[in-house]
Amino acid sequence: MNKIIIFDTTLRDGEQAPGASLTSEEKLEVALQLQKLGVDVIEAGFPIASPDELQAVKSVGRHIKGSVVCGLARCLEKDILAVKNALSGARQPRIHIFLATSKIHLKYKFKKAEDEILEIARASTVMARRYFDDIEFSPEDATRSERSFLFKVIETAISSGARTINIPDTVGYSYPQEIHSLITDILNNVPNINKAVISIHCHDDLGLATANSLSAVLAGARQVHCTINGIGERAGNASLEEVIMAIKVRRDAFKNLDAQVNTKEIYRTSHLVSSLTGLIVPVNKAIVGGNAFRHESGIHQDAIMKKRITYEIMNPKDVGMASTQLVLGKHSGSHALAKRLKDLGFKLDENKIRVIFAKFKELTDKKKEIFDDDIAALAQAQMREKKQIYELEAIKVITGTNIVPEGFVSIKYKHQTFQAHSTGDGPVDACYKAVDKITKIKAKLLSYKLEAITKGKDAQGLVRVEIHVRGKNSIGRGSSTDILEASVRAYLDALNKAL
Ligand code: KIV
Ligand code: ZN
Repeated sequence: MNKIIIFDTTLRDGEQAPGASLTSEEKLEVALQLQKLGVDVIEAGFPIASPDELQAVKSVGRHIKGSVVCGLARCLEKDILAVKNALSGARQPRIHIFLATSKIHLKYKFKKAEDEILEIARASTVMARRYFDDIEFSPEDATRSERSFLFKVIETAISSGARTINIPDTVGYSYPQEIHSLITDILNNVPNINKAVISIHCHDDLGLATANSLSAVLAGARQVHCTINGIGERAGNASLEEVIMAIKVRRDAFKNLDAQVNTKEIYRTSHLVSSLTGLIVPVNKAIVGGNAFRHESGIHQDAIMKKRITYEIMNPKDVGMASTQLVLGKHSGSHALAKRLKDLGFKLDENKIRVIFAKFKELTDKKKEIFDDDIAALAQAQMREKKQIYELEAIKVITGTNIVPEGFVSIKYKHQTFQAHSTGDGPVDACYKAVDKITKIKAKLLSYKLEAITKGKDAQGLVRVEIHVRGKNSIGRGSSTDILEASVRAYLDALNKAL
């Protein structure tokens, strides 16, 4: 088989990245974009984790048509039933069950002997088979497991119904040669391995996740677990964009293997995941970082102008990065905006385009140059727009060195305007306290992140906050050329969502 199956776990392992939680709606937004990107499998979540998570997996399962939708379960009946429930409306459902096989986990986590683990693997796969045709089994911590035991567990999982065997390097401990020999040994020592696809799942604790995944592919793995921007538990997972582009760019090394995704959607997907999770992509990140295709040295620039391949191994357009980022300005009309939105991949009806155009015009009053990312932010905000309970009308802030910051906030609530004033530890704190006076809701700010959407002093700021209110966490976003206004918008967005 020459096809490399791309199993995207951004919504499961990716979302386990500290501070990256997504709402059910945001998960669906990412899943729809992953479908556009053309990934083969979307791991939508771990349904037993919470009712919200179950709902999110359910919603992804119902809306996705073109990819397999997968739910994670431990080898426990309640977990398997939760996945069954969550994926009852999915067109192509898959269950992914996992069970640790390393001595370390058996001794300290389970306090169980090998034969007990073997029996749990068998019984759980048989149980999963009652509800699913498509079963993936992961011997967790496989790379630190004793090989002879690992082979037995894999053989048992396959004979009990697993179609895919995923090999996790759970703690990112392995290195490329070791992964290669492990996959080769599995192929040579598990008698029924030809009945299953071998998959690889690498973590990046030593910065080797992509290299290890590619090494597994060279040894015969035909499915790769990865996440957008490489986000995930601790140091993250193998990055989808790196794995895919390595296979494409080094076709010579990956002997006609192909991952059939639409690479032109990579940049947009990266951007969406970054803005929804608040996990900023480092500028030097391979493929999607801001500097990935920038040439600073004069020698490089000169050579690039003569022939691109001197210093560029791939075309930025192939990953959906427009070669020119500056697109529109004050004099651009709605047709130009509509065309640019279409080129950026947004399918919007006329009404939505009209609203975005009005916002675009407001933005051109504040900002001379409008970049693709500005337009994408306007479109994404519009796509997410819902009826707001509390709507920001205006803010005024007094702040400076050696003075106590003061915030004045004016908010519309049920067709009436309410105003409040407060001092605070900083201008954001002052404004948030003023908001609290109006709403009379006690919310605790858990995290606050500010990022510039584009470059330049007049760049729009995107603020992402997470608050704890009425017993649950809620995430909100706001953007504006004024970062204090963006901050208040984000806070209100989180409150509105919580309510
Ligand atoms: O890293 C890991 O072992 C996992 C499993 C659930 C596959 O994420
Ligand atoms: Zn993992």
